Amino acid sequence: MLTARLRLGPVSLSDADAIASLVRIYRDPAVWAHLPEARPVSDQAIETRLAGNARSWAANGLDWWIVRLRGPLGGLPAGEIVGLGGVSMDGSGLDAWNLGYRLSPAAWWHGLATEIAQASLAAARETRPHTPVTARVLERNPASWRVLGKVLTVAWQGVADGDDRLTADLPRRVYTDRPLSHDMLAALIAVV
Ligand SMILES: CC(C)(COP(=O)(O)OP(=O)(O)OC[C@H]1O[C@@H](n2cnc3c(N)ncnc32)[C@H](O)[C@@H]1OP(=O)(O)O)[C@@H](O)C(=O)NCCC(=O)NCCS
Repeated sequence: MLTARLRLGPVSLSDADAIASLVRIYRDPAVWAHLPEARPVSDQAIETRLAGNARSWAANGLDWWIVRLRGPLGGLPAGEIVGLGGVSMDGSGLDAWNLGYRLSPAAWWHGLATEIAQASLAAARETRPHTPVTARVLERNPASWRVLGKVLTVAWQGVADGDDRLTADLPRRVYTDRPLSHDMLAALIAVV
């Protein structure tokens, strides 16, 4: 899939160079500044996550994309892998896409996450039109919710007990592209 500045492709474990690039990006503490405790502790842990993306691609026909630059950007060359992003069914068991992104700091501030979010919304609606596109974000991550605010609307914000011990006490938001049932919203709040 092509956007104005990006080439978006599925996660494939057979692309060793791409996996190595993504491991480098995921290892960067700057990429986890909003939640340092969630930073993967080993390359193996990152590869396990990427294997989950690859499985989810096979199961759902769509998941987070590997994001490559089509042309040079700032100091980065054409073809550079700048991260992952897109929509995922993410194993929560809910019939809801979860929009997210994780980019190399060298690629921040150029509007790339916004470009990914717009492409993600279109791809999700084409792949499973009846499945809502949602997102979950920490309020202390303004770069992330600024992007979400361009393509989705806030369905809930607050502090609630959740399953995730890392984020349960932190102010969070749930975003959506359409009205959600009470049960779906409650479930999304619980998995933030
Ligand atoms: C979130 C992230 C993907 C944004 O990528 P990006 O390509 O820089 O995003 P964009 O340039 O499309 O837009 C970022 C928006 O947030 C704003 N922004 C960026 N950093 C910010 C900060 N530290 N504080 C406040 N606003 C910020 C930008 O001004 C822009 O808003 P605007 O277009 O209204 O001016 C990137 O910062 C990242 O990878 N962070 C680490 C991983 C992460 O937090 N992922 C999401 C949670 S899982």
